[in-house]
Amino acid sequence: MNYHIETYGCQMNLHESEKIAAILKEKGYERESGTEEADIIVFNTCCIRENAENHAFGNIGRLKKLKRQKKHLIIAVGGCMVQESGKAEYLKQKFPFLDILFGTHNLSELGELIERKRAQKKAIVSLKEDREETEDGVVPVRKSYPNAWVNIMYGCNNFCSYCIVPYVRGRERSRSPQDVLAEVSSLIKEGYKEITLLGQNVNSYRAEDGTRFPQLLDRAASLEGDFRLRFMTSHPKDFSEELVAIMKKHTRICRQLHLPVQSGSDRVLGLMNRRYTREKYLQEIAQLRREIPDCEVTTDIIVGFPTETEEEFKETLSLVKEADFLSAFTFVYSPRTGTKAAAMEGQISEEVQKDRIMRLVEAVNAQTREKSARCVGTVVEVLCEDFDEKKQMYLGRDEHGRMGYFASGENPVGKFVRLKITGANGISLFGERTE
Ligand code: SAH
Ligand code: SF4
Ligand code: F3S
Repeated sequence: MNYHIETYGCQMNLHESEKIAAILKEKGYERESGTEEADIIVFNTCCIRENAENHAFGNIGRLKKLKRQKKHLIIAVGGCMVQESGKAEYLKQKFPFLDILFGTHNLSELGELIERKRAQKKAIVSLKEDREETEDGVVPVRKSYPNAWVNIMYGCNNFCSYCIVPYVRGRERSRSPQDVLAEVSSLIKEGYKEITLLGQNVNSYRAEDGTRFPQLLDRAASLEGDFRLRFMTSHPKDFSEELVAIMKKHTRICRQLHLPVQSGSDRVLGLMNRRYTREKYLQEIAQLRREIPDCEVTTDIIVGFPTETEEEFKETLSLVKEADFLSAFTFVYSPRTGTKAAAMEGQISEEVQKDRIMRLVEAVNAQTREKSARCVGTVVEVLCEDFDEKKQMYLGRDEHGRMGYFASGENPVGKFVRLKITGANGISLFGERTE
């Protein structure tokens, strides 16, 4: 039997789809296939912005015909969108052909839900309000070699006023350092070369034995082997000197910090409930660069937050320059039902939002281009991760997060490769192998 998984959203979801794949295999779905050949289709959804939801709605809707033709086909929808208040019922009504709906807190139950569904006709909806346990006993089926994601914590307590994540992912729960380190260590032994520690806000990691994130990072970086480490995401309010010291101590921690700033205006940051100021943010990255001069900073930015003025938007534009971001994920504010910001007065028109996002993207891209152009002539080390069929070249990421493309006779996937950079385009570099 075949399975097909469609994943939306963040790395957390991509990683959880690796666990879904493991559960499906256990239930006898051996091969991954396209939708047409699949015997089970699982949607792992996201609800961070409206377009993420619409995208999933469109793709689920298209399956109606397939389901009619193929009676034994099971269609399951899980993830953040299903966990939203009232959404599971809504999905059931909108798409009566769905078989299973499951939330973010009961992914590990999917196997049982499939068994139950095989025995009954009626659709199954299974949701849990929250969860306490941090181990689900599911060993993910990873397809990301030589990279691997490892969850260190679940949930979020921050309640940024625009964000739905705390509502659909529950309160923060940290895995024990023993569990995290055992997983990292076995991945290194299996030959994985880049481990990314994952959490909505890794800096608020707090294990039951009192271990905080810098200590966990220190212990992971002290493991033996040929590998490098990344972590995401960090919240500026929890940034610490100790974290910088640990990054400095271990050169195998990539010289890139993803530190979402969201806005360059103090008034907007206040409304967003981010709990830091522009100045504090800039001080943090200045401190980081004082200690680790070649560390690049990447970020997330939202434009068109309720009541954001043109002047305040310009403060975001000027911050992009001042903070010297290597790149940024840029978003148009999307109201999410149930969040504080969705109920605020002064929602910004689509026209103004479009204008601002275009200007922001242009500013960010110009900066990325300029910074990449400076790499031409230098030697950069990348971890080769794949072959790009279109470009007919191998590709790999450098520690700062740039993609490097190159030609190679032998297959270098999983190897650290040094490239003499001959050209650049956006965040991509092109080079030749060198020793
Ligand atoms: N936990 C991480 C990532 C959260 S989601 C963090 O706090 O940084 C990733 C990004 O989506 C956020 O950083 C934010 O920029 C964006 N985002 C979240 N909610 C949004 C909304 N309602 N509209 C637009 N962008 C949003
Ligand atoms: Fe959302 Fe803020 Fe939590 Fe990030 S820190 S997941 S933006 S509430
Ligand atoms: Fe991630 Fe989207 Fe959920 S960004 S945590 S999958 S709402």
